[in-house]
Amino acid sequence: MVDTDLPQQTRTLHGMFTAVPPRYDLINHIITLGLDWRWRRSAAETCLDGRPRHILDLGCGTGDLAINIALLAGESVKVTGLDYSLPMLERAREKAAAAGVGERTEFLHGDAIELPFPDASLDGVGISFAFRNLTWKNPVRLPHLAEVLRVLKPGGRYVIVESSQPENRLIRAAFHLYLKAFVGPVGTALSGNRGAYRYLAESATRYYNPAEVREMLLAAGFSAVSYRPLLFGAAGIHAASR
Ligand SMILES: C[S@@+](CC[C@H](N)C(=O)[O-])C[C@H]1O[C@@H](n2cnc3c(N)ncnc32)[C@H](O)[C@@H]1O
Repeated sequence: MVDTDLPQQTRTLHGMFTAVPPRYDLINHIITLGLDWRWRRSAAETCLDGRPRHILDLGCGTGDLAINIALLAGESVKVTGLDYSLPMLERAREKAAAAGVGERTEFLHGDAIELPFPDASLDGVGISFAFRNLTWKNPVRLPHLAEVLRVLKPGGRYVIVESSQPENRLIRAAFHLYLKAFVGPVGTALSGNRGAYRYLAESATRYYNPAEVREMLLAAGFSAVSYRPLLFGAAGIHAASR
C-alpha cells in the first residue's frame, strides 16, 4: 500500500502500524485511564446523528469505533472500517464477530489517501485516534482531507476523536508531563516498542489546539466545524460537514 517513493515520515508510520503491538487494546486502555472506550462511544453517538446509512471508520485499527457504531446503530446502518495495517484488520474482524456484529461490519485494506468509495457515497466518516497520525507532520494531511471530502455526501460529516490541547495552561502542562512521564514509558514497557509510544507522547504534546484543527478543516473545504472537549481538553471531538 505504501510505496518507497513516499516520504520517510509516512513510511515510518506505516512500519509502526504493520504489527499490532502485543496488548495493543489493553495499553490504550491503561494510558487513557480507561477513558478511551467512553470517548469512542461518544464519537460513535456523534457519527450516528442525522440518521446515516453508511459510515466509514477511517484508520480503524482493531475496530473499536466501527464496533461501537454497529452496536449502537442497528441493522439499517452499514459500517465499514478501513486501515492500511493487515494485522490490525484481522484483529478488528475477530473482535466484531465476538461482539456479535461481524455480519454488519466489513473491514477493508486501504489507504486514507485513496479511499475505495465513489464520490459522494458516504453519510459519515469517523476517525478515532488516527487523525493526529494523518495530520501531524505528515505529507498526506491535505490529500487525506480532500479524499474524505470527496467520498462524503453533501451534508455528510467527518467526526474526529483525538488527543487535543487543554486550554488551561496548568492543566496543559500537567497533561504534557503525564504524556512524557507515564504514557511514553508505560506504553514502551508494556508493548516492547519504544518508537511507537515515544512518537505518541511527542506528537500528542506538540499537536494542534482545537482552533488550529478547526482552521485546518475549514481551509480544506469543510464547514460547520464544532468541537467538544473531553477530560478538560486532553482529548476532544471535532465534527465537520461537507
Ligand atoms: C493510533 S491507531 C488508532 C486505531 C483505532 N482507530 C483506535 O481507535 O484505536 C492509528 C491507525 O491508523 C492507521 N493508519 C495510519 N495512517 C493510515 C493511512 N494512511 N491509511 C490507512 N490507515 C492508516 C494505522 O494503521 C492504525 O491502525
